[in-house]
Amino acid sequence: MSPPLTGIIVAMQEELEVILQSLDKQRSVQRAGMEFHLGLYAERPVVAVICGVGKVNAALCTQLLISEFNIQRLINLGVAGGLGAEIKPGDIVIADSLVQHDMDLSPLGLAKGQLFRMDVFDFKTDPILRKHALQASAQITHHDHFVGRIVTGDQFIASPNQAHALHQDFSALACEMESASIAQVCYLNQIPFICIRSISDNANTGAHMDFEQFTPIAVANASTLLQNMIPLCDSVPTQASIKA
Ligand code: ADE
Repeated sequence: MSPPLTGIIVAMQEELEVILQSLDKQRSVQRAGMEFHLGLYAERPVVAVICGVGKVNAALCTQLLISEFNIQRLINLGVAGGLGAEIKPGDIVIADSLVQHDMDLSPLGLAKGQLFRMDVFDFKTDPILRKHALQASAQITHHDHFVGRIVTGDQFIASPNQAHALHQDFSALACEMESASIAQVCYLNQIPFICIRSISDNANTGAHMDFEQFTPIAVANASTLLQNMIPLCDSVPTQASIKA
């Protein structure tokens, strides 16, 4: 039996480029305007793809990875805005749960972030993938690591008030634009999922400048982490073993 295929999903070209440097590429496949790169990474089979920015792109790409490529686990890497005073550009946040902060059915009596008729409020990441991500991130010693909630919305947050509200309302450590929708699709398909984000800015008024400055550092951190992490993942349960 061939080893399980791991999906790697990123939002931007610069995030994929560092991954491709270590990918022993076998072929690429186009679907829905996205290029899926198949090959070996640290000698394990992976398919890596840029989904583009935002929740619709991310959800579409995730379902393609599951339905067309039959991935057995999914890793989402990228950058995020840090929320709260503790978190600085360069730091790493490993998600334990994900919420769509721009989902708002409060006039119908639902808490902000709660999806309509969904049996959970937040989507949890896989505990074993999380453990491996934490172990791999410990090898990046020049930045701090956090485990906590990440919130997602179709907005680049660049306002201290909004950043403060996301931190308070959702107890979130970081904000970005894809991972809660990826998590929702993985939840519905029972695919183990982890999201690891490097902080590129503090989601405040200077966020767009910090984003340009820190994204290369954040991307380099994420790539180091992936190289450390993939070999640890051989023991992660697959979708098949979860369903059995
Ligand atoms: N990704 C990186 N920084 C972000 C921010 N401030 N808001 C949303 N997504 C981000």
